[in-house]
Amino acid sequence: MAEQKATTSVLYEETRIFEPSRDLVENSNVMQWMKKKGFKSEREMRAWTGQHYIQFWAEMAETYADWFEPWAQVLEWKPPYARWYVGAKCNVAYNAVDRHAKGARKDKVAYIFVPEPVDQPTIKITYSKLYDRVNRFAAGLKSLGVVKGDRVSIYMPMIPETAVAMLACAKIGAIHSVVFSGFSAGGLNSRILDAESKVVVTTDGFFRRGKPLPLKPNVDEATSNTPSVQNVVVVKRAGIDVPMKKGRDIWYHELIGLKKPDDWVTDPPDIPALEAEPMDSEDRLFILYTSGTTGKPKGIEHVHGGYCVTPAQTLAWVFDIKEDDIWWCTADVGWITGHSYVIYGPLCLGATSILYEGSPDYPDFGRWFKIVEENKVSVFYTAPTAIRMFMKAGEEWPKKYDLSSLRLLGTVGEPINPEAWIWYRKFFGNDKCQIMDTWWQTETGCFLISPLPITPLKPGSPTFPLPGFNIDIYDEDANPVSPGSGGNIISMTPWPSMLRAFYRDPERYNKEYWSTYWDIRPGTYLAGDKATKDKDGYFTIQGRIDDVLKVAGHRISNAEVESALVSHPKVAEAAVIGKPDEVKGEVIVAFVILKTGVEPADDLKPVLAKHVRSVLGPVAYPEVVYFVNDVPKTRSGKIMRRVIKAKALGNPVGDISALANPESVDAIPLIK
Ligand code: WT7
Repeated sequence: MAEQKATTSVLYEETRIFEPSRDLVENSNVMQWMKKKGFKSEREMRAWTGQHYIQFWAEMAETYADWFEPWAQVLEWKPPYARWYVGAKCNVAYNAVDRHAKGARKDKVAYIFVPEPVDQPTIKITYSKLYDRVNRFAAGLKSLGVVKGDRVSIYMPMIPETAVAMLACAKIGAIHSVVFSGFSAGGLNSRILDAESKVVVTTDGFFRRGKPLPLKPNVDEATSNTPSVQNVVVVKRAGIDVPMKKGRDIWYHELIGLKKPDDWVTDPPDIPALEAEPMDSEDRLFILYTSGTTGKPKGIEHVHGGYCVTPAQTLAWVFDIKEDDIWWCTADVGWITGHSYVIYGPLCLGATSILYEGSPDYPDFGRWFKIVEENKVSVFYTAPTAIRMFMKAGEEWPKKYDLSSLRLLGTVGEPINPEAWIWYRKFFGNDKCQIMDTWWQTETGCFLISPLPITPLKPGSPTFPLPGFNIDIYDEDANPVSPGSGGNIISMTPWPSMLRAFYRDPERYNKEYWSTYWDIRPGTYLAGDKATKDKDGYFTIQGRIDDVLKVAGHRISNAEVESALVSHPKVAEAAVIGKPDEVKGEVIVAFVILKTGVEPADDLKPVLAKHVRSVLGPVAYPEVVYFVNDVPKTRSGKIMRRVIKAKALGNPVGDISALANPESVDAIPLIK
């Protein structure tokens, strides 16, 4: 556990404080609740809800979700296993779609879909239209033999049919496993194999920077050795000719009875309504694979009950979503942010969201601002890497557009530097919008540390743990650290949308999250991030404690990239580190040991980088490759990435006497 030592750092003290306007505070959803409950201050409210978290999450479940049958017990906590809303029956697709389509929101727009090609019209999809399509696709999946508990892989771009596919799975109790469409065939293959999916849903292709690109061929490649896959359903999106395998591949529009592909306008004849499957609260809703410390992606399991409650509640409290807001979360549905805050959270609230298909800079850097202006987006949520990209492009882009509809902003995925925070507030937010810097993870399902609209902000800080959570920063001995000192982010109590398990790997679940403090305080969740608190209790996130990279906000394990490199026939061994980058946060730098007899030729470097891209996808592309003869290792053979990184960046390497090969450190080049 030497890697997880608490670090004491001299902190730059942030002195700027940004107070919310009186108007924002007084009208906020959270303030209405505080008034009802008689809380005098935010601090008191956060503390009380932490102490009474079980009661709090029971009340939130009653407020934000409809249940088919009530729970017998709010929480059963046998660390490290939590069961929430025990005995209750519910379905998140019912909460997200059916109840709105049957009620007052039936003609309200659920999604404003903005296709990437500028000549294709924006499509407004109402809750009743969404209901119709989900109903049809749910029936379609059933007709293919998909039953409750079956896994369905979804490998699709940002189009409304992706939401339909996820919701249709949820409706019939199938477990979706969304795989980011930027992953290669290899990444898709390992995820299908692990999940043993019965069906894969994909598209012929997608639009990227104005060009239609194929996607279906990746699925064909990824399913060459996957006996579980019985059908591949293909949405015609890009008009690309793709081979269809007889007896296995089916067009989505044919399966659901549409005459034309992607027809969101006309209504085909009604089909019988399918009731949402009554699910046990603890029944699995989805698996989402994410990177951990080893090369193998881990399948994080989330459940229906928790997902009926926390994405909606946190969205309503943190982003203050009201009936007439236009919400835009720019995340891809391939990541947890898309699951919680493009699909389940906003839909459960009956909100209207933007769904944009393409790149932020196509046809130019004005695209996002144009979408905000045209659709009067009021609450906007994106990643620091995007903000830094716009900073680089220049303030003339936001200045060209009318962004006055924006009233609240947010960020997620990695620490936001104070300069980027200030720029975001100034040029997106007209110097008036508060910024909700939300800290959370694939594992947590919803925001855990975040401001509320009533919170005075410090740039670069996600402020405090949210109501209903008990988050702290511990040193190695499970003592809360003193102000200014760094330590591990932990949670002392469970919450409804926490991960329940790793798919088929229960031991890893115990080890990665619960083992560190087990002997001292069993039931302490280790998040895997380092953080500090200042004298006022404001959190600052310092980054991961484990060997996980954050490239443009995407979580990639060093080990995954190393394995991809080693899978090249000329590579003997590899060590991968992250190098700080102005726009992406980090970029990947690889130190490669070639097999004996292989020449370290310069033209081999791009070959290896491309090899990684073909194995893992473009997100894992190594920016720089170096050839070395050896890399520093412990006596047990573990690559010391920390030492490599320090040497490569010109920082002190510390005591390396315990290494098996201390001389290898000298040979690591400086990479500036
Ligand atoms: C890791 C989780 C949660 C959605 C997107 C990423 C980092 C996340 C912040 C933030 C600093 C952040 C952490 C965390 N992270 N939000 N506001 N400030 N760091 O989900 O891929 O599961 O990654 O992202 O390191 O552990 P993920």
